[in-house]
Amino acid sequence: MGYIHGTEPREQRRLSELNRMTNRAFVAFLGVGPGERVLEVGSGLGLLAADVAASAPGVEVTGVERSPDQLAAAIPAPGVRHVQGDAHRLEFASGSFDVVYARYLLEHVADPAAVVSEMHRVIRPGGRIALQENDISLLRLDPPCSAFEEVWAAFASGSAAATP
Ligand SMILES: C[S@@+](CC[C@H](N)C(=O)[O-])C[C@H]1O[C@@H](n2cnc3c(N)ncnc32)[C@H](O)[C@@H]1O
Repeated sequence: MGYIHGTEPREQRRLSELNRMTNRAFVAFLGVGPGERVLEVGSGLGLLAADVAASAPGVEVTGVERSPDQLAAAIPAPGVRHVQGDAHRLEFASGSFDVVYARYLLEHVADPAAVVSEMHRVIRPGGRIALQENDISLLRLDPPCSAFEEVWAAFASGSAAATP
């Protein structure tokens, strides 16, 4: 099974809007310094990578992305290069990056521990790794709405089943 969100234009627009709402806080959290070499694993349309590259002078961001559709739609931005690859087997030498991050990726991969291990391999000694994921179990409605809870439970199990 493929990427659960798919790559239809309407869904791409929805994800882009979400990106715009959440990027600023993540970029501040990442705190990339001037000239740092950065890797984003599962870079999608490259919107976050573009904001990270613009956050300090001379930052170079490599975005590695598995989907040819996502790569074809990725937005060109200064300081960002996109490459095709699988997060489980990163094709970079050990210790190549100062900062390695992934956002909203681990929920989509077959073996999250293997992905994190690869991220650790390609970071230089003393470098930084950052991960951010959604926890969709942390939703509580008050007053409760059983119809929505049914839909949400179906969404959660559908997401789990769609992970390759
Ligand atoms: C929800 S998007 C997140 C995009 C971006 N990181 C962000 O925060 O806006 C997840 C991306 O991970 C990619 N992806 C899923 N499995 C992957 C894998 N094994 N290797 C590389 N990319 C993968 C998907 O194709 C998709 O573009």
